[in-house]
Amino acid sequence: MKFFVDTADVKEIRELNELGLLDGVTTNPSLILKSGGSIVEVTKEICDIVAGPVSAEVVATEFKQMMAEAEYLAKIADNICIKVPLTLDGLKACKTIRTEMNRMVNVTLCFSPNQALLAAKAGASFISPFVGRLDDISSDGMDVIAEIKQIYDNYDFDTEILVASVRTVNHVKQAALIGADVVTAPPATLRALVSHPLTDKGLAAFLADWAKTGQKIG
Ligand code: G3P
Repeated sequence: MKFFVDTADVKEIRELNELGLLDGVTTNPSLILKSGGSIVEVTKEICDIVAGPVSAEVVATEFKQMMAEAEYLAKIADNICIKVPLTLDGLKACKTIRTEMNRMVNVTLCFSPNQALLAAKAGASFISPFVGRLDDISSDGMDVIAEIKQIYDNYDFDTEILVASVRTVNHVKQAALIGADVVTAPPATLRALVSHPLTDKGLAAFLADWAKTGQKIG
């Protein structure tokens, strides 16, 4: 399973990348706003840090303008993955970017298996179902992931399931159990994956006993 971080915070991305756990980055207009920087500068900086796909989102809602924005964003770096919304124009842009620009495309704002089916037919590299936002409205985000997985397996679609709007470490576990290809999670959620009270307790006990030996390694 690949780990992407869902942030435009360059400092966080640099730190997580140094851990060797990062396979890519996802951004969106809200995260660019939060970063306080310009989309081109922030995205370029991220692409210089991370070798894997870096999703940068178009904000146009009409096909022609989406394509113009896609061309512009693609020039930032070779590892830019163009993110388009799951609309008819977005799907048309997805197909065109894949066939004419030969670029990765992440189709975002997916909330149903049928939407994911359309994105796969449009040749999307990634589909981003938002599990947290489905849970927010008393749906079950993970049920949607499982259904998309089954549909993609039924037809051998190459589109990777990129689980987004991840809010908890349990979302990560459930996505992995279902066999989703990627999770994108906020930095704090990725860091929380390592935490276990018994690890902390066990380490403290080992260190206390080691101190009593009076030895040194090396
Ligand atoms: O990856 C999409 C993500 O940024 C949305 O997360 O928590 O705002 O639903 P959230």
